[in-house]
Amino acid sequence: MFNIKSLHAREILDSRGFPTVEAELCLNSGAKALASVPSGASTGTYEALELRDQDSTRYMGKGVQAAVNNVCKVIAPSVIGKSFADQAALDHFLLSQDGTANKSKLGANAILAVSLAFAKACALEKQVPLYQHLSEISSNKLSMPVPMMNILNGGAHADNNVDVQEFMIMPVGAENWNQALQMGVEIYHALKHVLREGKLMTGVGDEGGFAPNLSSNQEALDKIMSAIERAGLVAGKDVFLALDVAANELFNDNKYYLASDNKQLSATQLIDMYESWVQTYPILSIEDALQESDFSGWQEITERLGSKIQLVGDDVFVTNPTRLKQGIEKQIANAILIKLNQIGTLTETLETIALAKNAHYQTIISHRSGETEESFIADLSVGVGAMQIKTGAPARTDRIVKYNQLTRIYEQSKAVYAGKHSFTKWLHK
Ligand code: PGA
Ligand code: ZN
Repeated sequence: MFNIKSLHAREILDSRGFPTVEAELCLNSGAKALASVPSGASTGTYEALELRDQDSTRYMGKGVQAAVNNVCKVIAPSVIGKSFADQAALDHFLLSQDGTANKSKLGANAILAVSLAFAKACALEKQVPLYQHLSEISSNKLSMPVPMMNILNGGAHADNNVDVQEFMIMPVGAENWNQALQMGVEIYHALKHVLREGKLMTGVGDEGGFAPNLSSNQEALDKIMSAIERAGLVAGKDVFLALDVAANELFNDNKYYLASDNKQLSATQLIDMYESWVQTYPILSIEDALQESDFSGWQEITERLGSKIQLVGDDVFVTNPTRLKQGIEKQIANAILIKLNQIGTLTETLETIALAKNAHYQTIISHRSGETEESFIADLSVGVGAMQIKTGAPARTDRIVKYNQLTRIYEQSKAVYAGKHSFTKWLHK
């Protein structure tokens, strides 16, 4: 039993300089934890509600005082002095207090901050590391995830002309976590040189990746291939490429608009383009290749490419067990992006992960484009044995805190790196 002694929340800033919620929870044992929530820019329609004040006199309407008040004045009085058997008991209590399907009464940002602070405090009370606690409550074996490093930013995350939101590298061929990290970092720095040589901008986007203007989406792939070579690594052996197209942002009137390629494509034509990219480049994974409601497009790409590469559903599933169930039935995608704040509690997130694993879908634990110094997802990725983590470029502290936490976890746990041993095995199943 975990007895809550105090609970408080405050408005803090995220990496884009916008307010977000931080909760501070203390158990009777004295175990005390802080947790903060991230925020997306290219959000899915079916995400749980992020409660913002909409008061234009403060922070351009993006204040979260209402969510903070919901923690301090609604949730705190009803949980202080109460005992909860486990994480599920606390989360179910919060869900019943909210009572809506999308957490619109209290706000997913209010609920998640409490849910995560409770998990961290429970780990402290048990005197085990957070990743260990998460492994125990989800009955998963530890593993070190393959980092999907977003080294070139476009779409809603940058002010350049590149349509694809994220160009990532995956050091699948590394022997262990430390080597994977080093490979990714060296390619990132090599890319900076490649861009400079091409007289391209080396300013960065929201997730720390470079954000140059380019003549086409394919040019981004070519620059990354050059960077891999420059770093002395072999693309297609040591390192693979991954994309997040975030196709919701390209979709209008049943067509996909690629401004930098000056193209207007049907779903089938878009899939043709992906197929030619997959034939030309060592692309291992494409996320949100189609818009969130374009189920026929999703079915077509899964039929055509699902046995060759990983197809990740982000906006289409929004970490929601009900939406994932529908996707599995419709045979859409073969992997799911996991974002705690899309669903709003740790328990529901673990439920979605269990569902995905049962259906042999890959799980990728993910940050949001707006982050804080919170490193919960690093522990989550190891604790639930997710084989991948998506947490941006190896630059800017909001991204680096996750990588540094993974390095500490690796040192302590010596968990096996998922790369060659398990992720590649899954891919070639
Ligand atoms: P977001 O982007 O956090 O802005 O939604 C991340 C993603 O689309 O994966
Ligand atoms: Zn995405």
